Amino acid sequence: MEKGKVLLSLLIVNIIGILVLVHMNSHTYYIQAPETIKALPPNNKFKIPEASFLITPIKDSKHFMVSAFIDHRLDGVIRVISIINRNSLQPLYCVYCSAEQVCRTVHTEVQIHSDHFSFPYGASDVICKGKHIQNATHVIITTDKKDSADLKIEYLPIKNKAVQETFKFNFTVCISNLFGDYNNVLQFAQTMEMYKLLGVQHVVIYKTGCGPDLEKLLKHYETEGILEIVPWPIDHFLNPASGWNIKHHKGDIQYYGQLVTLNECIYRHMYQSKYVLLNDIDEIIMPYKHTSLPSLMEDLQSAHPSIGVFLIENHIFPKTQFEESGKFKRGEWNNIPGVNIMEHIYREPSRKNIYNPTKMIVNPRKVEQTSVHSSLKNFGGSFHVPFNVCRIVHVRVPLQGHLTKEQLFVDKRVWDFEQELIQIVDQTLKLSGFLKASI
Ligand SMILES: *[C@@H]1O[C@H](CO)[C@@H](O)[C@H](O)[C@H]1NC(C)=O
Ligand SMILES: *[C@@H]1O[C@H](CO)[C@@H](O)[C@H](O)[C@H]1NC(C)=O
Repeated sequence: MEKGKVLLSLLIVNIIGILVLVHMNSHTYYIQAPETIKALPPNNKFKIPEASFLITPIKDSKHFMVSAFIDHRLDGVIRVISIINRNSLQPLYCVYCSAEQVCRTVHTEVQIHSDHFSFPYGASDVICKGKHIQNATHVIITTDKKDSADLKIEYLPIKNKAVQETFKFNFTVCISNLFGDYNNVLQFAQTMEMYKLLGVQHVVIYKTGCGPDLEKLLKHYETEGILEIVPWPIDHFLNPASGWNIKHHKGDIQYYGQLVTLNECIYRHMYQSKYVLLNDIDEIIMPYKHTSLPSLMEDLQSAHPSIGVFLIENHIFPKTQFEESGKFKRGEWNNIPGVNIMEHIYREPSRKNIYNPTKMIVNPRKVEQTSVHSSLKNFGGSFHVPFNVCRIVHVRVPLQGHLTKEQLFVDKRVWDFEQELIQIVDQTLKLSGFLKASI
């Protein structure tokens, strides 16, 4: 068929309005666009091409789209988690297509999350509303209101199409970013095994990079099935900052785009996991009055039925202070790269006038937008879990490095799990090739 006929066969059913109305404020802007509907040439063999990476540039703009979800809490709109350049705001349009390959172009509402730490790029939601949106299977964001039904571009598949009442997992841990040459094998193995003992079934890591030994351990956990690695090549598209403070860490976006991946992880698990834990790779959200996360959450949730966001205080266990007896300085672990958390049982005291930052256990169905230490928009409120009920064991470089052992608190919670923990860590290190199986 010649080109003209193909174009003719693209059916323009309707064009509503030509007036474009722009309303802007600091966080949200809207544009009312003509709604156009086009049908793709009928061709059963053709499949809408899907984006192969999580980060897809929006054509003719400085922005990126990440992934698309139906939000059933907001009348079934399409939410496209995106990375928006705050200095290049422009009208954006949404093209959504049904399985029958009928596509519509509509205006969008862009919501730049309030936490962007002054970096030029920020985690954002591009919201698309329109007729028959419930039947859409694919979507893209464009800058051209006439753009539609172009089969040369890659579309995002729309996820969370149906509400689910039962979940594949009870507890999922989202690790928002792994980057550089991080190679802390022992602490990661101990953390993963500790989380398994506590009742976690699924761990997701957004990975930009890591060291060679850790790579090997990640492969092991992927094969085992508990770990899902989501490639996050943010450094191919932007110059990510390695911290959150733009004064100290120059770059385009805060901490490897951590806020984007945290939000992505929540929507990805909305109907996959009853609860989602949002913490870093060197942190363990540890119940202190319960033996596991299920019993902790059962109590917390029955005491606070409507709450969907549980804030857990972070506490620092300096890796520079070792426990005296040396009983966990095991020969088997001598050559394993990384920190042995069982040797670090000294906890820094809270400081007057300095707030202990929190991480979260959330019901993802009650969160609309999240930041790192709290949620930005949620449907049920949040609850600060008392420190004696649950806190984060965070073994790392000290924050109060001047303190002596006597000025730190002894906190041996991890030792309560010593027998099972040592056994399964050893087993993992054997299965993944770090220890000889004969030991
Ligand atoms: C949506 O899809 C369903 C199932 O394919 C179909 O029965 C229904 O007519 C569609 N609705 C619209 C508005 O296109
Ligand atoms: C989740 O918890 C429920 C209730 O305790 C339990 O029946 C179910 O087996 C758990 N699911 C998984 C995947 O462990």
